[in-house]
Amino acid sequence: MRIGPLSLPSNLFLSPLAGYTNLPFRLTIRELGGIGLATTDLVNARSLLEKNHKALKLIETCPADRPLAVQLFGSVAEEMRDAALFLESQGIASVDINMGCPVRKVCRVGGGSAMMTELDKTARLVKEMVDALKIPVTAKMRLGWDDQNITAPDLARALEGVGVAAIFVHGRTREQGFSGTINLGGIRAVVQAIERIPVIGNGDVTTPQAAKKMLNETGCSGVSIGRGAFYNPWIFLQTLHYLGTGELLPEASFEERVRVMCRHLERMIEVFGEEHGCRMFRKVAPWYAKRFGPANEFNKHVVLVSSRAQFHEILTNYRLWRAQFLDNEGELMPRFRPPPMVASFMQEANAAPVGRVHVPKGPVEVW
Ligand SMILES: Cc1cc2nc3c(=O)[nH]c(=O)nc-3n(C[C@H](O)[C@H](O)[C@H](O)COP(=O)(O)O)c2cc1C
Repeated sequence: MRIGPLSLPSNLFLSPLAGYTNLPFRLTIRELGGIGLATTDLVNARSLLEKNHKALKLIETCPADRPLAVQLFGSVAEEMRDAALFLESQGIASVDINMGCPVRKVCRVGGGSAMMTELDKTARLVKEMVDALKIPVTAKMRLGWDDQNITAPDLARALEGVGVAAIFVHGRTREQGFSGTINLGGIRAVVQAIERIPVIGNGDVTTPQAAKKMLNETGCSGVSIGRGAFYNPWIFLQTLHYLGTGELLPEASFEERVRVMCRHLERMIEVFGEEHGCRMFRKVAPWYAKRFGPANEFNKHVVLVSSRAQFHEILTNYRLWRAQFLDNEGELMPRFRPPPMVASFMQEANAAPVGRVHVPKGPVEVW
């Protein structure tokens, strides 16, 4: 898979997830294999130019974290261009432009989804970036503002015309938020609208089978996975294997999930310090726990964690509590196993929804 001059090890991508896709998470995912390119949380171009501490922390990286794309948002062409030039000078592999963020704070200043309603202005802004950079520029969008305004195909074509190297498209409108089903036909319309560059489909991919269906039914060249990687950090490896061989690898065991969760925490501590890293992990650990089986005893305590020792104590107590749900082999008894994950677009029309993909609560709930 290629994005402009960049040759990627696979056609699977980690979607930007503000508040989560930091260096510790990316390294944890990369170590498990299968990923082609990871992207940072979205970064405000102006804050980056002002060398704002938080913005610089968002682009913190290391040699094991390659290839890396940084996602920028902003609506002032010069700022976007200069921020991208700065990223290029730092060895970043590509720059992604956020055109799909429905958060009011971003739309108010003309970035995010607002970009999709002003095609010419957006194309000019992007051209200025493409002309100035040697590294590829990509764009991430939703299908459009609402069902009456499906602008992604036109926008994608316009962006291809000014030299964008790839398009990422989340198969929902801004109005949809995270509700409803992914519109595979909408992603296919974007694929059909462009001539040469790859389109990467996105939305609700939580299993290798869902990735395959998205690739087959839309004609997209790659798949980008966000929340599916929370539930299952092995999804990239499992999907790559499935696409190559048709074989489904077994789900990770409880012990393996715990091992990776602890490794993730260690990296959070390394990058953010013990107390802050642990506090940030309060919202991460419950995602791992979603596949542990009964986990309220873990979640109740982990949302208060502020040290490594406390985390391990919580884990030890949880293991003791969890034992009541295990059979003689130490496996969860069938009735306590979490339901299989099924992507919105994989469900039978009238079937009761199973394994719905959660949307994180808190300041990011409108993503
Ligand atoms: C917590 C959260 C944060 C997100 N942050 C960003 C972001 O910074 N930039 C962006 O383009 N999309 C962001 N998104 C959207 C995701 O990249 C992705 O398009 C969306 O979650 C659908 O894919 P998924 O179903 O695989 O998660 C975010 C989504 C969530 C749930």
